[in-house]
Amino acid sequence: MKFIRLLSVVWALMIGAAWAADSVPTGHSFHDNARGPAGIMEMTKPPVLGNAINDDVRRTRNYTWQPPTIPHRVDGYQVDKNFNKCMDCHSRAKAEVSQAVPVSITHYMTREGQTLGQVSTRRYFCMQCHVSQENARPIVENKFMDVDSLILKRASTGNAAKR
Ligand code: HEC
Ligand code: HEC
Repeated sequence: MKFIRLLSVVWALMIGAAWAADSVPTGHSFHDNARGPAGIMEMTKPPVLGNAINDDVRRTRNYTWQPPTIPHRVDGYQVDKNFNKCMDCHSRAKAEVSQAVPVSITHYMTREGQTLGQVSTRRYFCMQCHVSQENARPIVENKFMDVDSLILKRASTGNAAKR
């Protein structure tokens, strides 16, 4: 008898938890920085894209394998099976004329590590990884610190020996 009572309490708790989990995303008290108060199942109107930064200043990478951000506009650049506008400037052969940074060797490598004569299919769609920048305020706080800043901070606070 005791066991059955315990079982029904556990059962009631489980139903309660499922109901609580269910009610969060659809309720209008739910707020997301990117979407506002809209529930997860609702569609929101995406904000209009502004003017991408076009200052031609290459930016620091935050870590070794970060794909560098694009310091110029890319509106309307054709990248499809017929033509890759990015490679029109960024291929090894075009660098001298375009003065663009040629894509690195990794862009010519297959996933087996074989180096090809042409850009590898896995790196063909540049904007999967590289993005131009907007002059927008970040909607989510980011406390990421690159390794150089971290070392500097440690040195200046005298914490270098600790931890
Ligand atoms: C008309 C030539 C041209 C085209 C087309 C072009 N770029 Fe560039 N790109 C440059 C030049 C020149 C730079 C060097 C910085 C500058 O002058 O803007 C550069 C810089 C970059 C950088 C920064 C590299 C670094 O090390 O910081 C990235 C990433 C990049 N471009 C990606 C792209 C992508 C992706 C496309 C296609 C959507 C593209 N570019 C199309 C000329 C071009
Ligand atoms: C799968 C992700 C990915 C794709 C797709 C990709 N890149 Fe990259 N790219 C990177 C990463 C990661 C780096 C930095 C490390 C490296 O060189 O591999 C990089 C580096 C670069 C650099 C700087 C090279 C240097 O030596 O400083 C340029 C320019 C660049 N990419 C342009 C392009 C262009 C143009 C395309 C499309 C043809 C492209 N990338 C496609 C990930 C990608």
